[in-house]
Amino acid sequence: MPRVLLVDDEPRILSLLHSLLKGEGLEVVSERDGESAIARIRGEQIDLLITDIRMSPVDGMEIFRTARTEQADMPVILLTAYGAVDTAIEAMKGGAFDYLTKPFKVDELLITVRRALEYRRLVSERDHLQQELTAHYGFENVVAQSAPMRNICEMIKRIAPTDTTVLIVGESGTGKEVVARAIHLSSKRKAKPFVAVNCAAIPEALLESEMFGHVKGAFTGATANREGLFEAANGGTLFLDEIGAMPLALQGKFLRALQEREVRPVGGSASRPVDVRVLAASNVDLEKRVEAKEFRQDLYYRLAVIPLELPPLRDRQEDILPLVRHFLQREAPMTDRQYRLSREAREILCGYAWPGNVRELENAVKHAVAFLDGDEITPDVLPPRIVSQSKPAAEPTAANEIEQYRNLSLKAFLRTKEREYLEQVLAGVNGDKEQAAKALQISLATLYRKLPADA
Ligand SMILES: Nc1ncnc2c1ncn2[C@@H]1O[C@H](COP(=O)(O)OP(=O)(O)OP(=O)(O)O)[C@@H](O)[C@H]1O
Ligand SMILES: [Mg+2]
Repeated sequence: MPRVLLVDDEPRILSLLHSLLKGEGLEVVSERDGESAIARIRGEQIDLLITDIRMSPVDGMEIFRTARTEQADMPVILLTAYGAVDTAIEAMKGGAFDYLTKPFKVDELLITVRRALEYRRLVSERDHLQQELTAHYGFENVVAQSAPMRNICEMIKRIAPTDTTVLIVGESGTGKEVVARAIHLSSKRKAKPFVAVNCAAIPEALLESEMFGHVKGAFTGATANREGLFEAANGGTLFLDEIGAMPLALQGKFLRALQEREVRPVGGSASRPVDVRVLAASNVDLEKRVEAKEFRQDLYYRLAVIPLELPPLRDRQEDILPLVRHFLQREAPMTDRQYRLSREAREILCGYAWPGNVRELENAVKHAVAFLDGDEITPDVLPPRIVSQSKPAAEPTAANEIEQYRNLSLKAFLRTKEREYLEQVLAGVNGDKEQAAKALQISLATLYRKLPADA
């Protein structure tokens, strides 16, 4: 229930307003003086403040100023005597929601209160969405365990606060959009829009007017002026996905917009300034397209000020299990379960080449969760294609191997390697220890000593 703080030094008005607002189903707290009101604002969450202006020693303006600094999203309605309207207008400039001149009609008050509470609701909804977005796409949610991904994260942190254009390249599903959003959310533009445009998804004939807007009558069907995506992203970030698909004819106009920081709507004669940071992504080799004269070289250089190359998942195996854990955690709150991964399932996931990269992995996890009965993910709930095409127990990658032995003493390392070799030889002779000892040219006793007790 929304909570309203009511402040007026006239007891009669205070009790009248109190019962009026209570009748509206609101929770109302009243104060007769400024100090007590300020104390409440400092200590309690309030959804709406209604205060008289003329009071002493602490007047309504001072309460209002405290409210602005303590709870900036709380709307404030000022009550003013006829003749003190100037102060109220001053307060409006300082961010007050509205003012009412005494005496006012009950309806007038109720309408203003409803509007203020609706505003309050929208603001907290917006904050909530913003938080969700940050939680979903923020940095903390970019899984980066492997060395190349950790480097990329370092790079993102360094470039995010600047306004530099970034070109993100990588196969489909490697996380280009995730990176773009993380850059936006770590930049000073994060409270402003992040507008994503997929250049390959918009028909060529429409792309220009989508990007730059159009004026009424610019072409058949242009029945009104329309703002383009550039302007929709004003103050924020424009993410151009699949930039390689942008038609040559439009590339020139786009380059001009980037350089001059202004856009001209289709059919319009005047340009309008825009303040937009551009991030672009491509899953085709743009340099090849430049060579083939399908992509303008000047635009390429303008975009690739900082190129970020996302490696395919098969080249960063260390990310596979952390990603699985990440996606399982994302699924868990919806099903209220704690998932585990069986050893076989783990080996299958690590032994698969992931041509669809992280997106394919994410879908595999969703598939598994959907087919799962208990809490343990086993091969039978994984997509069959992955199970059949996986080559588990593949040779460990060099990077993997170094990670595995990190900070091990030389002795411990040699012992591990020795044991691996013994095990291989044993496996080759079907576990026959005598034969193995002979092949290794050591005594049977030495072999026993070197093997773990249970071998
Ligand atoms: N490092 C990562 N950490 C967490 N999730 C990731 C990561 N990389 C990718 N994902 C997830 O994988 C999916 C695909 O990522 P994204 O859409 O960013 O890929 P993309 O490179 O833009 O693909 P496409 O070229 O097909 O558009 C998304 O659901 C995203 O949340
Ligand atoms: Mg994408």
